[in-house]
Amino acid sequence: MKFSIVTFGCQMNANDSDWLARAMLARGWREVPEEQADVVVLNTCSVREKPEQKVHSALGRVGMNFRGRPAAFAAVGGCVAQQLGQELLHRYPFVRLVFGTDGVAQAPNALERLAVEPELELALLDILSEYPEREDAWTEHEDAPGPRQCFVNIMQGCDNFCAYCIVPYTRGRQKSRHPEAVLRECREQIARGAREITLLGQNVNSYGQDPGGAGMGFAELLRNVAVLPGLDRLRFTTSHPKDIAPEVIRAFGELKTLCPHLHLPLQSGSDRMLKRMGRKYDRTRYLDIVNELRSARPDIALGTDLIVGFPGETEQDFEETLEVMRLVCYEASFSFKYSDRPGVAAVNMRPKVEPDIAAERLSRLQELQNEITSDALQNRVGTVVEVLFERLSKVQSGEAPYWRGRDSAGRIVNVPEHDGRNLAGMIMPVRIVEAKKHSLIGEKAGDAW
Ligand code: 5AD
Ligand code: SF4
Repeated sequence: MKFSIVTFGCQMNANDSDWLARAMLARGWREVPEEQADVVVLNTCSVREKPEQKVHSALGRVGMNFRGRPAAFAAVGGCVAQQLGQELLHRYPFVRLVFGTDGVAQAPNALERLAVEPELELALLDILSEYPEREDAWTEHEDAPGPRQCFVNIMQGCDNFCAYCIVPYTRGRQKSRHPEAVLRECREQIARGAREITLLGQNVNSYGQDPGGAGMGFAELLRNVAVLPGLDRLRFTTSHPKDIAPEVIRAFGELKTLCPHLHLPLQSGSDRMLKRMGRKYDRTRYLDIVNELRSARPDIALGTDLIVGFPGETEQDFEETLEVMRLVCYEASFSFKYSDRPGVAAVNMRPKVEPDIAAERLSRLQELQNEITSDALQNRVGTVVEVLFERLSKVQSGEAPYWRGRDSAGRIVNVPEHDGRNLAGMIMPVRIVEAKKHSLIGEKAGDAW
């Protein structure tokens, strides 16, 4: 069978899609471009209105493509599937499988059955109380090298119920994965060639605060992964500020492999908004955490998520967000206009912010971010960093091919390779010579390994 997977949303989804693709390849299926596929899997996101709309337009496109091919079918997984469930089966006749975020583990077998039973439709929508372990999808490709950078899930779901957020409804309550399973997967990825691991979860800092973690907290898990032989870089995402433990902050100064980079969603710089959002920290506490992080690791690069136009947000509240952005100097931020999500508390909060005011705030915020990013990148010029290379750069100029990689703080660095070598997966010292808008240009400053 020929399949194709289209992924929307977060890194958890991207990671689920990677696993699903491997599991189907292990069953002898072939991955092809969407137009040629007999089975199209859409792995969906409903965190904001926009990604959800994209799912419906993608389904329209897939349906058109399937015309005249009665055996072709689609599967919808992820957060929209969890939320709309059976409705998708009714609304789109060519959709024959829906699977929620806990149903991914069973999706490969379901797809195999559907391929041979044309009358069948299946729904895997149960939200489980334990982390659903998945089959080891490498077995059929025993010798295939894995990626140099990979993601490892450590937990699933969220208990925070921030007033704007649909995740606790689509991904269910928090459930940690057993530490032995996490460590086993990390060891296996390293054995297959991974040099960088990102530990993934909706709220990694509360890892182990449910029975799944078998008594191990996040700081201890982090320490255990950080010392695995062969690992060069360790990251984790996403963190809720209210749950970041002092031991995790200290870890940035203590663990050699832990990268000086943290994504720490602020959402708003106004205490009034933070309270209405149910974030359980205030601006002072957040800034204290930032100071503690910088004392532990002065070169740490911080990133964040921001929402503008949350119900009741005034110009004053918004300006407080800009102020915190200036104080923290985030190197990058993801920023969004608030959108109502079905069932969340903020749906009933008033007054709603006018869409054009929200749009104007968003563009002011993004302008400020561009300035801060640009200064931060400019400050790197002249420094020497270690770059882990990923691939050839998309934009090439001059005679030598440019390779693209990231420094340990996650900044994109493009470097010309004069000796014609394949740098993918190599780490090399690089001197930064120029700052572009969102990336850096460097030159070789030592031998690659
Ligand atoms: N409206 C706008 N942005 C949202 N986010 C989550 N829910 C909403 C919503 N209803 C943003 C938050 C979160 C990121 C993943 O998406 O900033 O951190
Ligand atoms: Fe989107 Fe959140 Fe679901 Fe990830 S967990 S796919 S961000 S709704």
